This record gives sequence, structure tokens and C-alpha cells, in this order.
Amino acid sequence: MNFLDAAFVQDFIRMADDGWQQGWHERNGGNLSYRVKAEEVEAVRENFAPGEWRPIGTSVPALAEEYFLVTGSGKYFRNVSIKPEDSICMIELDEKGENYRIVWGLVNGGRPTSELPSHLMNLEVKKLQDPKYRVVYHAHTPNIIALTFVLPLEDKVFTREIWEMATECPVVFPQGIGVVPWMVPGGREIAVATSELMKKYDLAIWAHHGMFAAGEDFDLTFGLMHTAEKSAEILVKVLSMGAGKRQTIQPDEFRQLAKAFKGDLPEEFLYEK
Ligand code: 13P
Ligand code: ZN
Repeated sequence: MNFLDAAFVQDFIRMADDGWQQGWHERNGGNLSYRVKAEEVEAVRENFAPGEWRPIGTSVPALAEEYFLVTGSGKYFRNVSIKPEDSICMIELDEKGENYRIVWGLVNGGRPTSELPSHLMNLEVKKLQDPKYRVVYHAHTPNIIALTFVLPLEDKVFTREIWEMATECPVVFPQGIGVVPWMVPGGREIAVATSELMKKYDLAIWAHHGMFAAGEDFDLTFGLMHTAEKSAEILVKVLSMGAGKRQTIQPDEFRQLAKAFKGDLPEEFLYEK
């Protein structure tokens, strides 16, 4: 099968395009990764032309010998649907989960996203918890970023404030949201901090930078990012009106919501203000 005809490749490209259209991917901002299923690898294997092994910059032994579709470093989301073979690549990991090689894509040179350590460490944490998780998405979501300048950089504050702005939020991400303080992007240190939060959450905010979302498939992961960012937009509007909140969803109402949706909302986020 032609690589670009595979459904998982088409879905990856569409998600990148959706993110571009939301305005979350100025220039080369943001990156996307997908842990490819074994049968999907076999379906496109005839297209592979393996390159040199290179270090990932971290170690992900639980992902050894797996394949990933990832955006290229410095590549524009705007161009993913226009010239996918130049903008994205498929990589294979070695038997230790310490090196990768490109097997398809980036035809004009380049390397996978500079956030590869964060993507792979998040995918590893998620796989160990639930093998159904396959997608990690990093976007420069403007409203979430704006809030990191005015709210305390605490999981419990961001979770509660974002939950309050849209009733569906606690239903969509009942575990809450984690916050990573400002750190230098692109390396192992921020990857370790983010993947630590991903043990507890599906969403992690990078202060003054953007957000990471993890999910089972492209729709769920994009939907998660979209839901949190839209709620942040509502909060930005509310704060911009200057009057503060006259009324909001109360802790007991969150508990009723949890009951109605047969879920569980951690009490740590339902504090009295
Ligand atoms: P890349 O172009 O290397 O993916 O970097 C973009 C980005 O958003 C870094 O955080
Ligand atoms: Zn970024």
C-alpha cells in the first residue's frame, strides 16, 4: 500500500490540519506523534528506506522496536497536508529504546520534532498504564498560554478554573490538568517533568508555552485539547470583562455532575474558595 493512502497516515494529516486551522500552530509551533499499530506497520512496510540510527536523547525501553509517526522539527503544521513527505516521518526505535531511525518521510532532510523525548516518554507512561493510548499532541494554544501569566501555576487551580468554565470539562477530563513550570523546551528534563504529570493526567500545560494532550486516538486527543482550550478562552473572556465571576459551578454541583455521569472527580479539586 502507498504510505500516504494508509488510514492512520490520513488521520494524522487531518489532525495536523485541524490544529493549524484552529490557529494553534504558528510557524513550526507544536508537534504530533502516533504509536503505530503492528498491523499498520506491516501494511506500509514496502515503502520503508531506513536511515542512520540516532540517539533519542532519553531512554524509553517499554517502546523498544515500536514505530511512530511524528512531525518533523522546524516543519510547519500548515504544510503537513500540502507536502506530508517533507513535513512528517515514520521512525523505528532500536531494541533498547535509546536510538531511532527514520524509515519514511522527511524527504528533504531533517529530523523528528525537537520534543521527541517528551512525546516518547509520555507515550511510554501511557502505554504502561493503558496500551490503548497511542497519540500525543503538543499545541501552542493561546488562551491556555495567556492564563499561565495570571493564574498560580498549580494543578489544582488550573483544573478547577478550567472545569468551571464549561460543564463538559470535568466529564471529558475528570483526572484534571497538570502544570509544568516554565522550563527550557526540547530536552530530557522537560520530558521527565511532563511524563511524571502524564502518570496522573491526560493534559499537561507548559507555562508560557502551550499544552500536551494524550489519548487513545486522533479524535479523542484533538477533542481533549480543543475542549480545554475552549474553556480557557471562556475564562479569558470572563477575566477580560473585569467584573469577576458573579456565579459559577459549586463544589457540590461538581459532585452531582460526577454522579450523573457515573464518574469520579478527585476531591482535591473541589476545595472551598
Ligand atoms: P519542533 O519544530 O522541533 O517540533 O518544535 C516546535 C515546538 O513547538 C517546540 O516546543
Ligand atoms: Zn512548543
